[in-house]
Amino acid sequence: MGQRSKWGTNRGFLLAAIGSAVGLGNIWRFPYVAYENGGGAFLLPYFVALLTAGIPILMLEFALGHQREASAPKAFRLIDPKWEWLGWWSVIFVMFGIELYYIVIIGWCANYMVFSAFESWGNDANAFFFDEFLQTSTASEDGSVSAVWNIGTMRWRIVIAVAIVWFVNWTITYRGVQKGIERAVMIMMPVLLAITVLITVWALFLEGAKVGIEHYVTPDFSRITDLKVWIAAYGQIFFSLSLGFGIMIAYSSYLPRDANIFKNSLIVGFSNSFYEVFVGFGVFSILGYMATQQGVGLDEVVTQSLGLAFVAYPTAISTLPFGQLFGVLFFFLLLIAGISSSISIIEAFTSAVMDKFTLSRKKIVTTLCLVGFFGSLLFTTNSGLFWVDIVDHFLNHYGLITVGIIEALIVGWLYRTDQLKSHIVTNLGLSGTRHRLFKYVVLQLWLYSVRFITPVALGIAIVHSLIQEFRTPYEGYPISGILILGVGWVLVTHLFAFGVSGLPWQKTPESES
Ligand code: PHE
Repeated sequence: MGQRSKWGTNRGFLLAAIGSAVGLGNIWRFPYVAYENGGGAFLLPYFVALLTAGIPILMLEFALGHQREASAPKAFRLIDPKWEWLGWWSVIFVMFGIELYYIVIIGWCANYMVFSAFESWGNDANAFFFDEFLQTSTASEDGSVSAVWNIGTMRWRIVIAVAIVWFVNWTITYRGVQKGIERAVMIMMPVLLAITVLITVWALFLEGAKVGIEHYVTPDFSRITDLKVWIAAYGQIFFSLSLGFGIMIAYSSYLPRDANIFKNSLIVGFSNSFYEVFVGFGVFSILGYMATQQGVGLDEVVTQSLGLAFVAYPTAISTLPFGQLFGVLFFFLLLIAGISSSISIIEAFTSAVMDKFTLSRKKIVTTLCLVGFFGSLLFTTNSGLFWVDIVDHFLNHYGLITVGIIEALIVGWLYRTDQLKSHIVTNLGLSGTRHRLFKYVVLQLWLYSVRFITPVALGIAIVHSLIQEFRTPYEGYPISGILILGVGWVLVTHLFAFGVSGLPWQKTPESES
């Protein structure tokens, strides 16, 4: 078979990796999580999490993928064949878990881009979102069937948008790394940046913006001792940097040999956080504006995260001067941020399959997108919103964090970390004392984070979440839904992961070692 694909330039790689990291999570999840967890005071745990887990794990994934020129399953196999399944598990669960609903939310954004032009929600954005757009199901009259299981039918508007979004994803990934993904991000990322700056600055000048920003940045230091705040910080960093999915491993495996892993990790890690903190200013300005318009407190306009984009924003758009334009731009921004993330998920899976089997990229991508489209349909039904909510909760609270812990442990303890350390600094251009100092101080700190801090922090997070779960099932959803998704899904995906890792390699896994 031909040679492994490569990025045309390091910049192309950076844009693709930042494109994967910057997504719906930055624009509508981060501001809400920050607000909930102490506003300005959240930034401290958040940056601690970035430095002790985010950047170290990012560096680990970049170094591993680049050193071995391998996607997650192959890279883990090269550490020890026993661990190949972990690589499969991470790419399977991101592809058939997160991707399926992530694309549906992008589909909602596409719809809302059109709605914005007409302000279709009239004067009740809340009723419009739930009752007209989603037509969210309710429990059956006698109460025997809960809303979650009252699946109803598919919403055609959403199905069409989802089909289009899958099609766009297919078009990009089908063409490969350089002609598809790299070209796409070279166009999408500058546009994303321009729109972000434009609408954030626009928001900053709105009347009442100050009120919102004050809430955003005023630290509530009493929250710093709350364990939940720290857990939220680690969770946000992991999700936002697309860690634990095998994505960053696959992306860095396409880097040329002389790539600078250390520098690339810092650029991607800091850009992503800088982006979300910056966007937060815009989001809170809008909320401040709304609170001022309606003469209410800020708490009343901050709703749950889903509501923030699809209820609060539309409400604000209706009263803004040039609101329609603002709305179209905002939802277009979500759309491209979403697509530059969703393509990275498809690529992580595709490169894993291509490493092991002699199947062609085109066949893999086409099959994936078709299967994915049908899988997405569950989330386009009347109870779709509940499924999005449940799946999102489980994958983010358990799936992702579990992979993160195991990944840190096996790489930190079973791998020749000296080799990996050398690899991180290889192309840094340091020599003599500076090189040694760097190796024994900075990289030693890195190793401590990977060996101890990340597993312990994530371990605490997961145990804490589990305890909460048993005390009160998530948001009062019926335990059947939670069990099927939580436990059933983990089991099924594991079966697949073990199944695929048991299949014989059609290509040589050891070729690169
Ligand atoms: N990092 C993306 C975001 O912040 C989310 C994502 C998750 C992307 C999983 C790829 C894979 O929205």
